[in-house]
Amino acid sequence: MLINVLTKAILASELAPAQRKDGEMNNRLEGGLEGVTVADTRLSEVDGLRGRVLLVGEPLERTAARGFASTCGLMWDQQVPSDERRRELEAELGRARVHAFEQLPALGDALRTLGPMAALRAAVARLAPPTIWPHDAIALTGAMAVFTAAIAAGAVPIAPDPGRTHAADLLRMLRGAAPDPEEAAALDIYLATVIDHGFNASTFAARVVASTEAPMGAAVLAGLGALEGRLHGGAPGPVLDMLDAAADHPDAWLIAELAAGRRIMGMGHRVYRVRDPRAAILEGAVGRLAARPDVAARVASARRVERAAEALLAERKPDRPLRANVEFFTAVLLEALGIPRALFTAIFASGRVAGWCAHVREQQQHGRLIRPRARYVGLACHEVGPAA
Ligand code: COA
Repeated sequence: MLINVLTKAILASELAPAQRKDGEMNNRLEGGLEGVTVADTRLSEVDGLRGRVLLVGEPLERTAARGFASTCGLMWDQQVPSDERRRELEAELGRARVHAFEQLPALGDALRTLGPMAALRAAVARLAPPTIWPHDAIALTGAMAVFTAAIAAGAVPIAPDPGRTHAADLLRMLRGAAPDPEEAAALDIYLATVIDHGFNASTFAARVVASTEAPMGAAVLAGLGALEGRLHGGAPGPVLDMLDAAADHPDAWLIAELAAGRRIMGMGHRVYRVRDPRAAILEGAVGRLAARPDVAARVASARRVERAAEALLAERKPDRPLRANVEFFTAVLLEALGIPRALFTAIFASGRVAGWCAHVREQQQHGRLIRPRARYVGLACHEVGPAA
């Protein structure tokens, strides 16, 4: 009885913001750490009310237009890279892709027998030295993603060409033929757009692992694990399934989906209360390919589904704006680039890994062990039965 009373008292004390005797603050947090600030960062800032993302103080629209290598340089050097520095970064990525290709045989059956994300984890676990450099992590992730697709299709993986940009070469390795410049530019913009986004789940996971002084490779593995779920990076494949299924009768399809208690993929966001600004950047990137009738038709159909979903969700959740997120137009763009949908999350990972690496370095330089508390709500000790 006494223990029960004490337990209730302790639980009650945890519900209110209060300074406990041991000096720790016990603010009661929303589930899922919603709205909680857990660290300082100089890398990116996400304004969910105004729909604005800054990378190292630069608007994402501007950094994305400069491309992936330039955005990597911005994140790592904390300044916009010169043309020479950008070329140097592209060259480093090129050398690292060649190195990743040379390591392929060491992976044995992993690329053939595992799904793309599991194969990426196997590649990082097997091939990445613990202190892997960011450009090696990026090249390994991108190259292995396209190699899994080649091997799944029964084709022989195509060797990298270090003289091309990272995006152009990934597309070339995927297809066996050089992409046209607009396609290469569209993938370059995509990779630059998804590079970083505050303390999203995978970045947070990578930082938690780095905070224990675990090496970069272990933190990248944590990021890869967190990205796989469809509440984070796993949504674009299901978005495309939805666009296929809902194209003819968006309203009817979406109503049935919501009635079945399912979420509309590619809609809603933890932070945004407006349309995700990255959706507009990716919509612009896919617009570069809209001279192709198949792409123009898909974009028009996707916009119809987006408008219908937005209207239905607004009716059902008037207090919680649920608008298109980055995954919605990721699906449309990656499909237009001929990337198989099973590969979408792995391609996302190949861009986001650059952000993880920058965050790991920031954590290593300035961070502390990330170790929050959990509020115990289980049985009180007298309620536990005798050990079997
Ligand atoms: N479709 C339908 N309803 C949705 C929804 C969606 N896409 N997103 C949120 N909601 C509803 C929830 O069911 C919840 O309703 P309830 O209060 O009646 O339970 C309410 O909106 C609040 O959702 P919540 O789960 O608190 O939001 P969150 O911040 O935890 O989730 C996402 C954010 C992104 C996980 C969520 O919007 C989602 O699941 N979206 C679809 C998956 C997706 O696109 N993932 C990629 C994200 S970039």
